Amino acid sequence: MRSPAARAATVTCSLALLATLGACSGAGVDGTPGADGVRDPYFPKLGNGGYDVTHYGLTLGYDPDSRHLTGTADITARATKNLSSFNLDLKGLDVSDITVEGKAARFQRAGHELRVRPADELDRGETFRATVRYAGTPETITDDDGSKEGWLPTDDGALALGEPTGSMAWFPGNHHPGDKASYDIEITVPKGLKAVSNGELTRESTKNGRTTFAWHSAEPMASYLATVAVGKYELKRSTTDDGMQVITAVDPARAKASKKVLDELPDILEWSEYNFGPYPFSSTGAIVDRAGHVGYALETQTRPTFPGDFNTGLLVHELAHQWFGDSVTPKSWRDMWLNEGFATYAEWLYEEDNDGDSAQETFDALYDGEYFEDDEDNEALWEFPPAKPTDAASISDSPVYERGGMVIHKIRQAVGDDTFYDIVQGWAKTYRHKNADTRDFTEYVEEHAGGDEARAKVRRIWGDWLYGDGKPDHR
Ligand code: TRP
Ligand code: ZN
Repeated sequence: MRSPAARAATVTCSLALLATLGACSGAGVDGTPGADGVRDPYFPKLGNGGYDVTHYGLTLGYDPDSRHLTGTADITARATKNLSSFNLDLKGLDVSDITVEGKAARFQRAGHELRVRPADELDRGETFRATVRYAGTPETITDDDGSKEGWLPTDDGALALGEPTGSMAWFPGNHHPGDKASYDIEITVPKGLKAVSNGELTRESTKNGRTTFAWHSAEPMASYLATVAVGKYELKRSTTDDGMQVITAVDPARAKASKKVLDELPDILEWSEYNFGPYPFSSTGAIVDRAGHVGYALETQTRPTFPGDFNTGLLVHELAHQWFGDSVTPKSWRDMWLNEGFATYAEWLYEEDNDGDSAQETFDALYDGEYFEDDEDNEALWEFPPAKPTDAASISDSPVYERGGMVIHKIRQAVGDDTFYDIVQGWAKTYRHKNADTRDFTEYVEEHAGGDEARAKVRRIWGDWLYGDGKPDHR
């Protein structure tokens, strides 16, 4: 609904501005188009300006045989400026119609940009609902580093993975980590198959040979962490000692092999909470697919996805991401080391606490070039500083992961264990369900380092380890 003030503005516009500027056409007030990207330093066209999504309601249907997806995306958003039009990101698929506030909207596509022009302009601060109906065969996206994401067809269904850009292959949205929202994802699949997603299962019902699974995520989620897994999964529900739901979906071919590791999940969660603070979501679990479908794990929110083969270390890593990445989410893809450095360091800590190498030993092996089997890999660690990846293709390279972990270890060395764990937990608590960048992090650490001497020490770490080129000349 337009406010009376906005309607008055329309009058002003048509009388005064039309004559002088000729800028007021149609229903135009002072609204202008929303930006087609949020200028991410690595992916400038990801996301869109002018609005904030608060909720996605996705109603999907998928038929693995034809690879046909039908979708309705109900997007609730708040305009952050007066908008004559706004963009969504959607790659491939056919859009049949779009409504905004219940009225048919015009739209136009160019690449992955879907420009929507509502019948009535949107006022700054106004909450609006956009509904997009679409269908087609979703695309598998090949990233700059060669890995596959987006919509991945499997032998028995499909898997949707969205880091860093793949979610636009299966639903329209504001696909940048800076705009988090709650989700309801409903998927209908042929009877006999399961459809798994993030959050809690609120409904499962079968009608006319098709089963619908409805999933609810109340806590904010970045779109790259949304997932759908369709297939012959063994779906299991249990609860932790604290009463939290654990939902696992395991490909029957991997059920036996993955049981031992998956059984460790409750203990690893307890260990993580002890170290990082309260778990930030209302359910947990895992999706384990068959080997060969996907070559990596992903920290999909509440329900990380694993390739057929995985071990305790990887489970620790993806669960640590629930705090670092999923709850505290990077403001841009440049801040990726905040995800991967912490998740990698969590693996080292877990080893240290479970009779393995100490984090210091892991750090030393990396510094001494004895960590990786190949000398080339040991060298690659120093290719660029964690906070400044070379380009989009390098955001998942070892300077982001292992050298990122080394930054965290250096902080621990500088401030001591007690202060270190206070910082880790305080960081996770302060930025819980929010976005943060490297600046926020360094400021937080400096403020909580425990005095001028410690502050001076961590400042040197930023220069040498976080932003500095090449291998620091002392450990
Ligand atoms: N984030 C994943 C992990 O740590 C790895 C990963 C998957 C990734 N896809 C990516 C990293 C794309 C960067 C970009 O387990
Ligand atoms: Zn990771």
